[in-house]
Amino acid sequence: MEDIFKVHHEDARNIDKIIKNKIVDVTITSPPYFDLKDYGSDNQIGYGQDYEAYLDDLKIVFQKVFNVTKESGTLWVIIDAYRREGEVVPLPFDFSHKLREVGWKLKEVIIWGKDRTVPWAHKGQMRNLFEYILVFSKSDDFNFYIDEVRDFETLKKWWVKYPERYNPKGKTPDAIWNFDIPTQGSWGNGYIRHFCPLPEEMIEQMLKLTTKEDDVVLDCFSGSGSVLSKALNMKRRYIGFELNQEYIDMFHNYIKETNEEKSSKYCISKKNRIGQAKFEKLVNDLRALKYARLLYKKLQTEGFKNVLKIYVKRTYTLSNGDRKYLKVKYLFLLEDRSRKNEIAKKVEDWTKKAPFSKFGIAPTYLYTHKVTSFIEILTNEKKDLYIYDFKATHRFVKKIKIEELNRSGKNNVIISSIQVDLNESDYA
Ligand SMILES: C[S@@+](CC[C@H](N)C(=O)[O-])C[C@H]1O[C@@H](n2cnc3c(N)ncnc32)[C@H](O)[C@@H]1O
Repeated sequence: MEDIFKVHHEDARNIDKIIKNKIVDVTITSPPYFDLKDYGSDNQIGYGQDYEAYLDDLKIVFQKVFNVTKESGTLWVIIDAYRREGEVVPLPFDFSHKLREVGWKLKEVIIWGKDRTVPWAHKGQMRNLFEYILVFSKSDDFNFYIDEVRDFETLKKWWVKYPERYNPKGKTPDAIWNFDIPTQGSWGNGYIRHFCPLPEEMIEQMLKLTTKEDDVVLDCFSGSGSVLSKALNMKRRYIGFELNQEYIDMFHNYIKETNEEKSSKYCISKKNRIGQAKFEKLVNDLRALKYARLLYKKLQTEGFKNVLKIYVKRTYTLSNGDRKYLKVKYLFLLEDRSRKNEIAKKVEDWTKKAPFSKFGIAPTYLYTHKVTSFIEILTNEKKDLYIYDFKATHRFVKKIKIEELNRSGKNNVIISSIQVDLNESDYA
């Protein structure tokens, strides 16, 4: 059987001649421009066509892309509006209507902010600094791995104080993407001379969002192959269609020269994601501790002064459908047993309401008034203990051994083997 995972020197309208089954996970493509640009081959879509014929041809191509896409699949189209005789032709929107007729569901419109353009514009116009990126899905149950692209490095300092408000995996990217257009020199070392390839980081973001390793990536207008080469670097399989053989040859040269280095860079960047895992753990730790502190404060203000200390033990994360909960054990040390049942009842009630219900914590509560049994439970941990006071739980006050517990001070009410020592100003 012929290998289909390559660039085919073939008209994109003939996708069905090459791909016979629903094997495509994602298509990322920028269609040929309408009328303006000659890509130097017969049968090209766009050049010399009228607008309706152009849109109809694109519809045929994306109908076929739809047919070979898995139910979980997505489609990214980079497309720009343009002007005719001083008027805007809203191509991205006309195009979206055509695709809806085929069955594609428009899920998102992203603005791609580009850095470079001419420093002037005609009357009634601004300098054109963006293009549209349209994101379509085949069904409502499509692959979208948002955690893969969450930003956890530039979160404001507030997550230290308000960990319950932040997704522990980081911030969701917004719908304006800023990626610089690659310069001739940076992409292709002189191989690419004819038009602007897409920025590598932007393609990487799309691939991370909608594919995993070994998935199948299609670009039906592959040009210089910037989508396909990135797919290869990131260990995805690729299929391309391109009418101009010269561009295909350039693509082959390019991957021969660069794939080894770029693939190893990809492997390194995968390892760097450990940073994200650390951040997630930290936000979860902060949540578990702050929850105990708020409970303590609430008990105090409601007059339950016989609560002396709360020990916090994080166990594991529990998934319930889309939501994840932290399983956390809270052990209360009481001065005496007098109001134990009353306290337990109150705490259960508060747990169901804000702010406690906002923490994503599935708590278990234990109560004791015997210091010995409190210590017994703690000794099972066989770890150092960190003490936090009732004012802040993002910095431990001191580290103690279990025997020192009685002397840990009146204000030092939260005890845990969780160690958090954050200086707020470092995260500003
Ligand atoms: C905007 S360019 C794609 C650029 C590409 N994304 C890149 O990064 O280099 C559109 C490409 O579609 C190709 N093309 C035009 N009509 C085609 C057709 N009917 N079938 C396949 N490719 C076609 C053109 O030769 C051109 O290379």
